[in-house]
Amino acid sequence: MFDPILDADSESDQVARTYARFAAHETAGVSPIYEAWAGGVTADEPVRALIAALPVAKRQPNLVFAASRHAGAPVGPYEPWREWLLEHWESVRPIVMARATQTNEAARCATLLPVLSRIEGPVALLEVGASAGLCLYPDQYSYRFTSDAPAALNPDSGPSPVVLECALYGTPAPTRLPDVVWRAGIDRNPLDATDPDTRSWLETLVWPGQDERRERIAAAARIAAAAPAPIRVGDLNEVLAEVAADAPTEATLVVFHSAVLVYVSTADRARFRDTVSNLNCVWISNEGAHVFPDIASRLPTGVDTDGSFVLAVDEEPVALTGPHGHSHTAFRV
Ligand SMILES: C[S@@+](CC[C@H](N)C(=O)[O-])C[C@H]1O[C@@H](n2cnc3c(N)ncnc32)[C@H](O)[C@@H]1O
Repeated sequence: MFDPILDADSESDQVARTYARFAAHETAGVSPIYEAWAGGVTADEPVRALIAALPVAKRQPNLVFAASRHAGAPVGPYEPWREWLLEHWESVRPIVMARATQTNEAARCATLLPVLSRIEGPVALLEVGASAGLCLYPDQYSYRFTSDAPAALNPDSGPSPVVLECALYGTPAPTRLPDVVWRAGIDRNPLDATDPDTRSWLETLVWPGQDERRERIAAAARIAAAAPAPIRVGDLNEVLAEVAADAPTEATLVVFHSAVLVYVSTADRARFRDTVSNLNCVWISNEGAHVFPDIASRLPTGVDTDGSFVLAVDEEPVALTGPHGHSHTAFRV
């Protein structure tokens, strides 16, 4: 059994702490199955030992749990899952080592739309940290805005199989979709939306119990697979200027990112900011408040950013957004 005193400095102890945190702060009330699995791992020495033998960056609960499901683990109570895991670890481990958690959330397009829809004329979309590129199709999804001004918006071709709901405050609901004439992404590990196994992995990254979200991602991946945008492999700082140079000059270049810059160092964030500022583009950043402290310093006084992203256009904060795309609270119209 795990003994917090004897094992105080062990790798296994660190695993226990990580999984206890995941159970208490991330999954509680969101995914009862992951909450039970994470709580179970915390007190399960044999399972912790397997996880502790992984490289540190591969020990995340999200990755280990998704890899087990991808390999066929029973999704239910902890005991059958841990029995299965102990028996099949040799098929789970290679998946953990080969894959990463790159949840791609098309719903974030709804929080970007109030900004994108105000850009007149043709738009060239370049997403940094695009994953499978599901946020590169804001013009091909349907939207249902609630709260201040309930409104529905569909592509010209008719309602999309992907319907994004977003609670909108402080700004009128968008009345048009952007005219996207070019789209491209950058990712250090792009996911190929045309590959069925990759699509299945993307769906597996969604936590058990979040069926609506999983169906949305599957439908968005089908849209991406039907006309795949090129996603350049590379570090965002190394290839941004080069990819941007391919955008058609008659369109407004929009460089955007959500839930990406949090994964790079402070120095690399500063370098990215310099690079993007030197491009002739609109820069849309949708990240946690701590990612760009200079942007956060311009937030209206008293704004509570806890649990929200800050949406900024050319470094000017314009709204707080729900990290999974379900709300947009504008600071000004
Ligand atoms: C959490 S996912 C977000 C995907 C997408 N932006 C969204 O909102 O759904 C973060 C993505 O950023 C990519 N990424 C992280 N650091 C990167 C870097 N230095 N250069 C390029 N891509 C990076 C990861 O590979 C991953 O696909």
